Amino acid sequence: MTLVLGIETSCDETAAAVVEDGKIVRSNVVASQHELHAEYMGVVPEVASRAHVEAILPIIRRALHDADLTLADIDAIAVGHRPGLIGSLLIGVAAAKALSWSLGIPLIAVDHVHAHLYAGFLRDAPPADNIEMPHTFPALGLVVSGGHTSIYRIDAHWQLTRVGATIDDAIGEAFDKAATMLGLPYPGGPNLDRLARTDNANDRAFDLPISRLGRDSLDMSFSGLKTAVLYAIKGRPNRDGSYDRSLDDMPPDQRRDLAASFQRAAVRAVILKLERALDSNTACSAIVAGGGVTANSRLRSELAALAERRSLPLVIPAMDYCMDNAAMIAGLGSVRLAEGERATLDLAPVPTTAC
Ligand code: KG4
Ligand code: ZN
Repeated sequence: MTLVLGIETSCDETAAAVVEDGKIVRSNVVASQHELHAEYMGVVPEVASRAHVEAILPIIRRALHDADLTLADIDAIAVGHRPGLIGSLLIGVAAAKALSWSLGIPLIAVDHVHAHLYAGFLRDAPPADNIEMPHTFPALGLVVSGGHTSIYRIDAHWQLTRVGATIDDAIGEAFDKAATMLGLPYPGGPNLDRLARTDNANDRAFDLPISRLGRDSLDMSFSGLKTAVLYAIKGRPNRDGSYDRSLDDMPPDQRRDLAASFQRAAVRAVILKLERALDSNTACSAIVAGGGVTANSRLRSELAALAERRSLPLVIPAMDYCMDNAAMIAGLGSVRLAEGERATLDLAPVPTTAC
């Protein structure tokens, strides 16, 4: 049995987890900083890194305790070293290096975005099914998060080629901004999802743009959709930049319909590109999705429908592993460990992803 301790501090979640044999999550602890950032309606980097410093050791202790293990049982330390906020990444990387050096066990560097695409392979208990089916790869990968919206061709868990990406906002960012415009509390994505799901919500009430960006493009754009939400609420701006209407003029049932219409357009934009990618790459034998927005109810059901239409298996994280977590870091770290991949104590945090 191989036990890997994962550490994740790339943004505003301090997380630690222990994963057995790359698949079974023995513990998964996530300390969210949402309350600290709520008053700013967004993550403040300096506040985030200070909070990581305070939380990191108790969270690691808790992950070991929940797994009923001690540090002596751990075979390797995996850490998300890119991409993210540099000051936040630094805390996790420093903790991981210190543990690896003092325990004399391997240090594994993991790309956070790639790890999101591993989250769907994690299980809470020994998997009854052999989820790594012989035909999983090459797969079509979709990462939808607060910082990334990309489509990949996946040849192996660590071998990804990006074939499309947003040219402006990430989809999660668009959800969060649309939610803020609709007066919903931070973090907006899950709250907008909840509002869009309420009874009688009409997802066709507002005709919002779904960007296509040319006939063959697999890229995406969400900034036009965001602006359309703004105009739906406030009307078009006057010449001096002022608006004649505000959210206060919009009745609750229209807000609900606008949330549902936004969600429909945002999800359609992604599904459309996946359809296009599948049309152009018939070799794909599965669809693998990951990232915070895979928690979205509509995206989950439309991805399931797409997979069914195409007769492909869909690998999508359980709800606990959609948002940032360290289990996905430990999981992908285990795969890298088995391949002999090792980081040295020179490992530096990097704000951008490899692809
Ligand atoms: O993957 P993640 O935890 O962090 C990044 O790597 O960015 O993703 C966070 C994003 C946020 O924008 C959040 O609003 C969005 O995921 N999100 C959702 C839902 N749950 C989380 N967006 C739409 N619907 C949801 N249910
Ligand atoms: Zn993430």
